[in-house]
Amino acid sequence: MRILLVDDNNTNLKLLTKLVGKLDNCVALPFASPDAVLSALPDLDFDVAIIDYQMPVYNGVELFTEIVRFEKYAQVPVIFVTADKDMTTRMAALNAGAIDFLTKPVNPVEFQARVQNIVSLAEARRQLANQAENLRREVERAVGELRLREREIIHRLTLAAGYKDPETSRHTLRVAAYSEAIAVELGLPEHQCHDIRLAAPMHDIGKVAMPDTVLLKQGKLTEAEYRQMQSHAQIGSDILAQSHSSLLQLASEIAASHHERWDGQGYPNRLVGEAIPIAGRIVCIADNFDALTTERPYKPAWTYERTVEHILGRAGTQFDPHCIAAFERALPKIHEIMERDRHEREREAAEQFRSRPGEKVA
Ligand SMILES: [Fe+2]
Ligand SMILES: [Fe+2]
Repeated sequence: MRILLVDDNNTNLKLLTKLVGKLDNCVALPFASPDAVLSALPDLDFDVAIIDYQMPVYNGVELFTEIVRFEKYAQVPVIFVTADKDMTTRMAALNAGAIDFLTKPVNPVEFQARVQNIVSLAEARRQLANQAENLRREVERAVGELRLREREIIHRLTLAAGYKDPETSRHTLRVAAYSEAIAVELGLPEHQCHDIRLAAPMHDIGKVAMPDTVLLKQGKLTEAEYRQMQSHAQIGSDILAQSHSSLLQLASEIAASHHERWDGQGYPNRLVGEAIPIAGRIVCIADNFDALTTERPYKPAWTYERTVEHILGRAGTQFDPHCIAAFERALPKIHEIMERDRHEREREAAEQFRSRPGEKVA
């Protein structure tokens, strides 16, 4: 324990220093003037302060008021040494946070007993603070681990869906990145933008329940097949629903709402306007943008320009106009994501070709 001693009387300071030296595991930090303490304060480190009340320029209380301005000393216990038995002085000291008094001339036995008590108190406080800090770290670690598990579940579910769905896992990851870019431009809180990115890849998880004859059909779907296909939104939501994980709850909400339309003509629940969850409104735009800019069995890839024009033209009918404004602001980022993905795909295709020449690369 480091004990700050401040006394303008040299004889007293020496006595206090000697007495502290006799206490177990205690080191004295003696100062003969408040000024000297104040200039050394930023780098000082002490656990208990023993301050003479009556000093020139600054009295003990004034000095202590300056000391506790530093956050690291805010909880330091202080004892004032006073010749004064005057109630006003003592009240001022108590109001300043004094935990005890020593009366001059200091009695060594009394000093030993009182300071030892305060040192024990400071030790207990420090242990408590350490415990609280350890607990905080432990909770933080546990929460971090939980988030990792959640992400792993999402990743594995998305992988499982990838075996069934002809749309590659790249589609889901692009949709996630576009969605985050829109959410950021919409001004949603950072953690919400991040969660949308993590949950969005599962928007089509319900397609695992679609028969291959419908899901993989090359030609146009019949009316009945189309209706069956539409059920992937509700099925996806059901698969993810009722989880205790907030991320899976969000994923369920996105799965249920990513085909709803702002004008109420979407599915599965024909929700209108703001009744559609915001994450669903965002993912809906990202999903459409990606579906249009990539090749599908039933259509070639549209150009970026044509797709943007098509989507902007549907603000207020298919899409939420606020989300479309955010989409428009996010276009530089969206274009960058799209181009980066295209380069990666080309690089992967070239690598695949190098390892298996002659094989057709998709
Ligand atoms: Fe979908
Ligand atoms: Fe999709």
